[in-house]
Amino acid sequence: MRDVAAAGASTGPRVLPRNDPRQYDDLAGEWWRPDGAFAMLHWLAEARAALVPPATRAGALLVDLGCGAGLLAPHLAGKGYRHVGVDLTRSALVQAAEHGVSVIQGDATAVPLPDGCADVVSAGELLEHVPDWPRAVAEACRLLRPGGVLVLDTLNDTALARIVAVRIAERLPTVPRGIHDPRLFVDARALVAECARHGVDLRLQGIRPQVVGVLAWLLRRARAAGTPGAVPAGRAPRIVPTRSTAVLYQGRGVRKG
Ligand SMILES: C[S@@+](CC[C@H](N)C(=O)[O-])C[C@H]1O[C@@H](n2cnc3c(N)ncnc32)[C@H](O)[C@@H]1O
Repeated sequence: MRDVAAAGASTGPRVLPRNDPRQYDDLAGEWWRPDGAFAMLHWLAEARAALVPPATRAGALLVDLGCGAGLLAPHLAGKGYRHVGVDLTRSALVQAAEHGVSVIQGDATAVPLPDGCADVVSAGELLEHVPDWPRAVAEACRLLRPGGVLVLDTLNDTALARIVAVRIAERLPTVPRGIHDPRLFVDARALVAECARHGVDLRLQGIRPQVVGVLAWLLRRARAAGTPGAVPAGRAPRIVPTRSTAVLYQGRGVRKG
């Protein structure tokens, strides 16, 4: 697949290869805009947070691998976790810290935290960006204490995912163009097997944005575009379960004792 330009730099777009992490620097101003290029990450963060149980002990730790700008943080409010985020991208971590996340700049494949430190590990929209995703899965499982919960969402390694998530979604204002390298998409069965190898029985659920909600959001966004500074009012589109895991899927699993 051809390399594309990452849109959004104020000095004009520069041409970066697909999945180049520098795209997140060029798009740094988009993270917290509800109508921005990362809008769908907000919807997914809400759905992911719904898989996180309330903390069962004081000082419980949630490690958010590939935390980006900390979009999960508002959805964890009241659940009782210390939220630690690990990410490669400094410009995103600065924003995550502003939203109450304790940040560590680092690679999800070599996390500088001790074995079994986490009550919950989250890997939201991360694995499809990591060339050695099994290594990131091994790290996620290593960090979990026995009984700890792994939550994640990612894109499946299927022809349908390449069409929907790259050819279609990257032409919509909900997903930045060039952010995905479809060669890195994560085969769902291989992911389940890898988690099992590391003591986590991962259960999968296909998910998708609610179509009516997305259409209403696109309409509100188009209307707001006529008014400088306006943000689309109304509820963000919901992420709903779907029978097929062929495109986008969530996983939840508990680490064996
Ligand atoms: C699509 S964003 C998802 C961010 C966040 N989880 C969310 O859902 O809002 C992917 C994030 O993963 C980070 N990332 C990519 N590869 C990484 C790696 N090997 N280690 C740590 N972070 C990584 C990027 O910097 C980016 O912030």
